[in-house]
Amino acid sequence: MKQRVVVYKTLPDHLTQQLQSEFDVTLFDRITDANRPAFLEALKGAHGIIGASLPISNAMLDGAPELKIASTVSVGVDQFDLAYFRQRGLILAHTPGVLNEATADTILALILATARRVVELAEYVKAGQWKGSIGEAQFGLNVHGKTLGLIGMGRIGSAVARRAHHGFGMPILYHNTRPNADAERELGARYVSRDALLAQSDFVCLMLPLTPETERMIGAREFGLMKRSAIFINASRGRIVDEAAMIAALQAGTIHGAGLDVFEVEPLPADSPLLKLSNVVALPHIGSATHETRQAMAELAVANLVAGLRGEVVAHRAA
Ligand code: DGY
Repeated sequence: MKQRVVVYKTLPDHLTQQLQSEFDVTLFDRITDANRPAFLEALKGAHGIIGASLPISNAMLDGAPELKIASTVSVGVDQFDLAYFRQRGLILAHTPGVLNEATADTILALILATARRVVELAEYVKAGQWKGSIGEAQFGLNVHGKTLGLIGMGRIGSAVARRAHHGFGMPILYHNTRPNADAERELGARYVSRDALLAQSDFVCLMLPLTPETERMIGAREFGLMKRSAIFINASRGRIVDEAAMIAALQAGTIHGAGLDVFEVEPLPADSPLLKLSNVVALPHIGSATHETRQAMAELAVANLVAGLRGEVVAHRAA
């Protein structure tokens, strides 16, 4: 009998067909209140699940006694309880590597957009307000030559640092669980304490995974240490930041601005004070969202799932 797979986010057609040729597949485009009961029902017989952007609780997994592997189409694994996977001997697979460059591009876009006020000024033109040459009221801040501080220096952090160093001549400071010798040698990156990074950087860029240790790591104290001219960039996970403290810092001018791709609650609620701040550029969690990169992530996630279900080595395991 074929093993059963539940897909909970649309995959490219050729990958869906590949899965259907080997497994008994139940497809959901995404999970909503309306189809949640059907999803939970499908989990009961599932040997493998694949998807993204859905918190998968231990209670849901308790209802899936046959499960061997969950394959997420993301590098982040914060939608899962890793301890549960280890305790039950389940495989959790993810998609590191293939999204490094696209995500680094998004982060550079946020740096440029916030410093040079690209979104705000494009809106100004579209609104027909450009009546004469612009003055100081519309000036931005230099990016080239400014100091970039990276909290976290893994694969995506290194891709950001490479762009900033080679393209924009930016000195790089970083803080990480361990020194990154390659970044120091190739990019002149300098390892400093987190507080020194916060105090000395012109752009503070958060590059960490969300874990119990990093949750709300950046709060009022940390924003208070940053320069008043500093721009805060977050394209990792919103819950690493105390969002209320960030909003207070932006409103009070404790920091100059923020470029954000991630939020405490996503989608960002329509009444979020962030939407009223002209010194904030907010994106809808697009870090890796290009056609090419999302396709590469889906291919990797399917390869991980198939390997796990065949009892082969899974190349990218988070648990
Ligand atoms: C990732 O891959 O973790 C992206 O943030 C999408 O969730």
